[in-house]
Amino acid sequence: MTKRAGLPIAAALAIAVSMPASAENIKIGFIATFSGPNASFGKLMKDAVDLYIKQNASSIAPHTVELIVRDDTGPAPDVARRLAQELITRDKVNLLAGVVFTPNAHAIAPLLVEAKVPLVIMNAGTSVTTTLSPNIVRTSFTLWQSSYPLGKWAAKQGIKTAYTAVTDYGPGHDGEAAFIKGFTEGGGTIAGSVRMPIANPDFVPFMQRAKDANPNALYVFVPAGPQSTAIMKTFGERGLGASGIRLLGPGDITPDDELPNMGDTPIGVVTAHHYSMAHDSAANKAFVEALKKEHGPNYRTSFMSVGAWDGMAAIFHAIKANNGKFDADKFVGSLKGWQTESPRGPIMIDAETRDIVQNEYMRRVERRDGQLFNVEFENLGMTKDPWKQIEGKK
Ligand code: DHB
Repeated sequence: MTKRAGLPIAAALAIAVSMPASAENIKIGFIATFSGPNASFGKLMKDAVDLYIKQNASSIAPHTVELIVRDDTGPAPDVARRLAQELITRDKVNLLAGVVFTPNAHAIAPLLVEAKVPLVIMNAGTSVTTTLSPNIVRTSFTLWQSSYPLGKWAAKQGIKTAYTAVTDYGPGHDGEAAFIKGFTEGGGTIAGSVRMPIANPDFVPFMQRAKDANPNALYVFVPAGPQSTAIMKTFGERGLGASGIRLLGPGDITPDDELPNMGDTPIGVVTAHHYSMAHDSAANKAFVEALKKEHGPNYRTSFMSVGAWDGMAAIFHAIKANNGKFDADKFVGSLKGWQTESPRGPIMIDAETRDIVQNEYMRRVERRDGQLFNVEFENLGMTKDPWKQIEGKK
């Protein structure tokens, strides 16, 4: 009896195994900034997303992905929340991705659990953000990852006094706290701190105050893009560099795509960050070359490109791991402890915090073949978000 029943069961199993999985079309609601002063961020991110899909679509067959792109217009939490709501209820997306600005991420976070939708954050870098929903996975960075070791490094260089000037919102507050902690733990003294408005800032009075304080170094965080170019120019024009003040910051103040707009002022500026267009690896060379092939020889990649690229790699991993069918728990679960080789170097999603673990590099802006680059001179090694470690947060 058992023997006779055995054959049909084996046959049924063989059929089940050889049957193709049902093809799922995974809808990704992609929210980023495509208009206003920060429109370059959305383009950088979407260029990388499009390239990733072009190169890797066959790896998820028979499944497919469909990108539904929405413009949040800048740091605009109400717009971001409305777009996320529409993508969830009307477009019935399987997941959300993108998000340049922290306030936008914080507006979307409370929607995720009820909607059972995961969110892959490809830029927003405030430490607390990932703690706001268990459905968030981040493939970008935190300001603490760059600015805490930068503060320690500065103190080790013999820099005695530093002034801090940051944009008055999440990542600026984090950058300020992280740099001050690292720097003062190393024996440095803070000569003063200012916070600058996020909308239409005039950097002149802030740079003048920093100059008047006459510190050895000035730590700056502003959102990458036109603000980084504007503050670099003001730093140069107000003569801070000429008076011997060293400019330091996270890579947000010298983003690779903005360096060509900054004149010579950034030459010699030291930053800590996780990605440089000049990062010397086969994966990065292939990444930069492929984007140049798509968009022309003058194309510049930045940390926004790599956050988006690795976000897509994470999404594709989760699609494969779940054979195209997932809810938020399965999606996030399949990414806990996930590792890959990124154009920035090795990366991992921390199983406990769902935040990225990556190398931080010390870099100096140099001219190479007539162009400015962030040239890495020291690898500080794989770095978990220090804020979560210090505060015991998950
Ligand atoms: C954020 C935005 C930026 O443009 C940047 O360079 C870093 C962080 C943010 O809002 O989290």
